Amino acid sequence: MTTLEFADVSVRYGHGAGAHLAVRDIDLTVASGRVHGLVGESGSGKSTLAATAVGLVRPATGAIRLDGADIVGGSAAARRARRRVQLVFQDPYAALDPRMPVGASIAEATRATGRRWSRSERSRRVGELLAMVHIGPDRAGDLPSAFSGGQRQRITIARALAAEPDVIIADEITSALDVSVQGVVLNLLRELQAELALTILFISHNLAVVRYVCDTVSVMRDGRIVESGATESVLSAPRDPYTRELLAAIPVLGEPFDGGTTR
Ligand SMILES: Nc1ncnc2c1ncn2[C@@H]1O[C@H](COP(=O)(O)OP(=O)(O)O)[C@@H](O)[C@H]1O
Ligand SMILES: [Mg+2]
Repeated sequence: MTTLEFADVSVRYGHGAGAHLAVRDIDLTVASGRVHGLVGESGSGKSTLAATAVGLVRPATGAIRLDGADIVGGSAAARRARRRVQLVFQDPYAALDPRMPVGASIAEATRATGRRWSRSERSRRVGELLAMVHIGPDRAGDLPSAFSGGQRQRITIARALAAEPDVIIADEITSALDVSVQGVVLNLLRELQAELALTILFISHNLAVVRYVCDTVSVMRDGRIVESGATESVLSAPRDPYTRELLAAIPVLGEPFDGGTTR
């Protein structure tokens, strides 16, 4: 069980007159074992904030902690702790090496555990991870091109889980998928979250998706969080005008994924 905490985090892109603050003074805690949503329109800084937690972008100020321990710095401890946070991106086509069998991609990711694996242990683990995302372990030797977009996204989730993370940051993981398979991926994420007690930061511009998946939510605008709270109360009674605007942009806030199967 792990709590992810951003404290006063700011990120600047560029230098001098061209500098731009993409993330401004963000305070955000994702409670252990919960799914916290981050919504906001394109360019509001969601992906930038996500990137800071895995070391892809260095914050200009502030701290990021896992259970109180720093994960930003260059120390061995910070780097080790950072591996407990895994990021899943929007585009499952770009995320997998087209020349590498999917099992090999997943096997490579088991290195992040820092343990030594025998060949047989590793291949058993790859089969287990594929099964967790409902893909037959016998498909480990297939290239990404043999899979649909939804299946590829499930494979990238398996690869993230190979690192045995405590925290998953899901950055628009269904945005590139057909609506018909979005529900499958969201249901899988919910299922894995419950099974593994993962702490999840779930990023999306789609409020219906956020409502389906998240316990709590923060609304981001121009690098700042303008509103946070329980998903139901933020979405049913938004206090911030910007949240109301976002809500007005989607005509019906139903629960379109309820009928989805887990496959
Ligand atoms: N690598 C980068 N270099 C310079 N500016 C960037 C970079 N990545 C994002 N930005 C800018 O930072 C702001 C936030 O972008 P981003 O974090 O991608 O927002 P979101 O994920 O909410 O769409 C935008 O103005 C974007 O143009
Ligand atoms: Mg983004």
